[in-house]
Amino acid sequence: MTTFDIVIRNGIIVTATDKYTADIGINGSKIVDIGFDLKGHETIDATGLLVLPGGIDGHCHIEQEEADGTIHEDDFVSATGSALLGGTTTVVCFASHVPGRGLVEQFDAYREKGGNSRIDFAIHQIITRTDEQTIRDEIPVVAERGAAGLKVFMTYDDFHLTDGQFLQVLEAARKSDIIVSVHCENYDAIRHLILQHLAEGRTEPHGHATSRPPAVEREATYRAMTMSELVDQKIQIFHVSCPEVAEEIARAQSRDVKVVAETCPHYLTLTEDDLKRDGFEGTKYICSPPLRTKAAQDGMWQYLRSGVISIISSDHCGYTFDGAVGKGRHGRDADFSLIPNGMPGLGTRLPVFYDAAINGRKIDLTDFVRLTATTPAQRYGLYPEKGTIAPGSDADLVLWDPKKSVTITNALFQSNIDYTPYEGRQVQGWPVKVFQRGVLAMENGTVIAQPGTGRFLRSRRG
Ligand code: URP
Ligand code: ZN
Ligand code: ZN
Repeated sequence: MTTFDIVIRNGIIVTATDKYTADIGINGSKIVDIGFDLKGHETIDATGLLVLPGGIDGHCHIEQEEADGTIHEDDFVSATGSALLGGTTTVVCFASHVPGRGLVEQFDAYREKGGNSRIDFAIHQIITRTDEQTIRDEIPVVAERGAAGLKVFMTYDDFHLTDGQFLQVLEAARKSDIIVSVHCENYDAIRHLILQHLAEGRTEPHGHATSRPPAVEREATYRAMTMSELVDQKIQIFHVSCPEVAEEIARAQSRDVKVVAETCPHYLTLTEDDLKRDGFEGTKYICSPPLRTKAAQDGMWQYLRSGVISIISSDHCGYTFDGAVGKGRHGRDADFSLIPNGMPGLGTRLPVFYDAAINGRKIDLTDFVRLTATTPAQRYGLYPEKGTIAPGSDADLVLWDPKKSVTITNALFQSNIDYTPYEGRQVQGWPVKVFQRGVLAMENGTVIAQPGTGRFLRSRRG
């Protein structure tokens, strides 16, 4: 009888389709067998624990350079440590497209930065301009070098593309067979509403929500899908915040428009009332699209159950609350429109979503795995090495204690970021051991994986 390097014994294995009790045999970096009474040189008793595929967070801003030269304060070492503490073993993060440098140069430089990662990583390439070099020469090269997708913005001063530019990117993406993820909000409508707010002296953080109502997200989503239909190119709507938008996506999907969608735990667990917290505190909750209402939260679950929205990502943004580059970079009296957008969420993604989704009885465990690991792996060309538990897959495994209650504090995540939007939230269900490619990478709140142990993952599309 074979003796495996490691056997994980008697855990409840959960995949996107099954839930059953068995042993997992690991040799080197791979799962090689699943069965009963397997023998290992090392045996880990997982009785009473869930064994999940390592989480795949398909949308994380890590050490990303912004157009003004600032760099997100959560770097690869820090962010990927917090990922492991929360049960995530793969991140897909963003190479910038800032002025003055070419796309391929920025893709390659970002891949090199990722050399410090503690976990495996893939890269989305942001596109902010559509000169001939970018469209004709460079998009094919980053696709060829294994980018997981392209990302474009329909809003933000420094980034947004016009509809014509967006169409150019879609055409180029179609030729290179690469998905385009889209930040959908109507730039001009938001500018108009922001100016109105400021003229009325409504400068407090909650103005962020009222100046970006669901209609601006719904309209941009509809427009993005229309352009996808015109070009016959697959797109993904990132960070869907409310059912009004999900309903548009469902309609387009029913007409066979090639559109898929993502949402994030914060749209299911926090509300726009958090923006009303005392004074500057509310800025912790500024992200785009903004947090919505409790009713919107409730309406989102049916779209997760039906598959209209098929991925849960963190949209982790490594801005500090008190640091130099963070939320306060323009001073604490700055109006809401100047506050950097985004919230940290890489470490909290799985525990917060698990608690809301599983303890809240919204979806079942197989859906949880599908949304947080399997579909992201498939969508970004990383499956079946990543995203499932099967012979031949990488031994990226999370031993998850469904009974463990934890009160979330930022300190638990040991990162460069000085706050979590979930401070004080009690959740049940927590990762106690994480293996990355067969090696113990996190145990009971201690990060073991060293910087540089993560590998760049080339997306295998098609
Ligand atoms: O507020 C957000 N989401 N900031 C991060 C950038 C983006 O839009 O994804
Ligand atoms: Zn976005
Ligand atoms: Zn984002």
